[in-house]
Amino acid sequence: MKTAKRLDNIPPYLFMELRSKIAKARAEGTDVISLAIGDPVDATPKPIIDELCKTAYIPENHRYPIDEEKGMFKFREVVTKWYGERYQVKLDPAKEIIALIGSKEGVHHFAMAVVDSQDTVLMTDPGYPAYRANIFLAGGEPHNISILEQNNFLPVLSDIPSDIARDAKAFYLNYPNNPTGAVANKKFFSELVEFAKTYDIAICHDNPYSEIVFGQERLSFLSVEGAKDVGIELNSLSKPYNMTGWRIGMAMGNPDIIAAISKVKENVDSGVFNAIQYAGIKALEIETQNIDKMLDIYEKRRRFVVDTLNSIGWNYTPPNGTFYLWIPTLNRESSIDFATMLFEKASVVVAAGSSYGKHGEGYIRISLTVSDKRLQEAMQRIKNVLM
Ligand SMILES: Cc1ncc(COP(=O)(O)O)c(C=O)c1O
Repeated sequence: MKTAKRLDNIPPYLFMELRSKIAKARAEGTDVISLAIGDPVDATPKPIIDELCKTAYIPENHRYPIDEEKGMFKFREVVTKWYGERYQVKLDPAKEIIALIGSKEGVHHFAMAVVDSQDTVLMTDPGYPAYRANIFLAGGEPHNISILEQNNFLPVLSDIPSDIARDAKAFYLNYPNNPTGAVANKKFFSELVEFAKTYDIAICHDNPYSEIVFGQERLSFLSVEGAKDVGIELNSLSKPYNMTGWRIGMAMGNPDIIAAISKVKENVDSGVFNAIQYAGIKALEIETQNIDKMLDIYEKRRRFVVDTLNSIGWNYTPPNGTFYLWIPTLNRESSIDFATMLFEKASVVVAAGSSYGKHGEGYIRISLTVSDKRLQEAMQRIKNVLM
C-alpha cells in the first residue's frame, strides 16, 4: 500500500519504540521499571471521577458535544476563571478559548491552522518530539533553535539569524520545559513577544506543565503584554489532575488562530465527550488542593532522586519545573550508551536525551511519575550498577 510521502520524514514516535522494547523484556520475565514516560501513576481525584460517572448517565450527554469542537461554553468560562485566578490572564471565552482533546491535539491543529507547505517553523532543540512531526505533517520545514544549559535552557533570541527569523512563520516552545525542566520568566516572554512582532511569527507556547513548578511563580505566556497579538498557549488537565488518559485540554489566546483551529477541528473531530468536559469543569473549579498534594509528592521524589545521585558522586542540581529530571550522564557517556547500559544492567528505562534533538546529547531524562516504591527500587538498582 502506498502511504503519504509526508510520513517518510517522521521517525517512529519516541515512546512507541520504548514501549515495544519494554514489552519484549517484560514478556521475557524481566521486571522492568520505566522512568522514561511522563504519565502519572497517581489516581485522578475522586470528585472528578464522580462527576464523570454522574454526567455519563444523562442521555443527552451521549450526543455530539455541546458547542461541538469549540467545547461547551461553561467549560470555556471555567477556563477563563482559572486562567484569571492562577495566571492573571484575561480571556474572552467566546473568541479566545477552544477545548482540545489534550494539548498534543493542539500541537497538531496549530500546525494545520498556521503552517503552509515549505514554511519554516522554529522549535527548540532539545524539544518535545511532536513539534517536529507536526511541522512535517503540515508540510513545513522545522528549524532547530538550540537551548543550552549555560542559558538556563532558554533560547537566545538575539542569536537567531535575522534571515531565519524573517523566513519563520511560527515558533513552538514550552516552559516549564519538557525535556529540560527549565522554567521561563516574564522578561523572556516579553522578549519573545517583541521577537514575534518584529518578524511576524506566530507563537505556540505549549504549557501543560504550568502548575508543576517548585519555589517559583506559576506563569502563562499570555500574562505578558502583547502575547495575545502574536500567539496562543496550549494547556491541559493531563498533568495537574492526573488525567492523561481522559484527553482534555484547551488552546487560548489570539482570536484569529483560535478561529483557524476551530475551522480545522470542525472538519476533523466533533469535540470532547460532554461528560469529560463536565468532569474537566469540576477539576478546574474545585481541585486546587490536589495540585498542592501533587507538588508535595513530586518535590519529595525529586529530593530523593537528587540525594541518591549526589550520594554516589553524581552531582546534579534539579531544575525548577515539570516532573522530569534532565541529568547529564555520569562520565559524559553518550545518552544512548548510558540509557542502554541502565536498561541492560539495571532493567531501568530512562529516556535518552539525544532523542529530543542534537543538543540533548549527553543527558538522560528521568520522570518522577512512578510510585515512590518503584522509584526507590529503580534508584537502588542504578546505585548498585554505578557503585
Ligand atoms: C510538552 C508537551 N506538550 C504536550 C504534551 C501532551 O499533553 P496532553 O496529554 O495534554 O496531550 C506533553 C505530554 O507529555 C508534553 O510534554
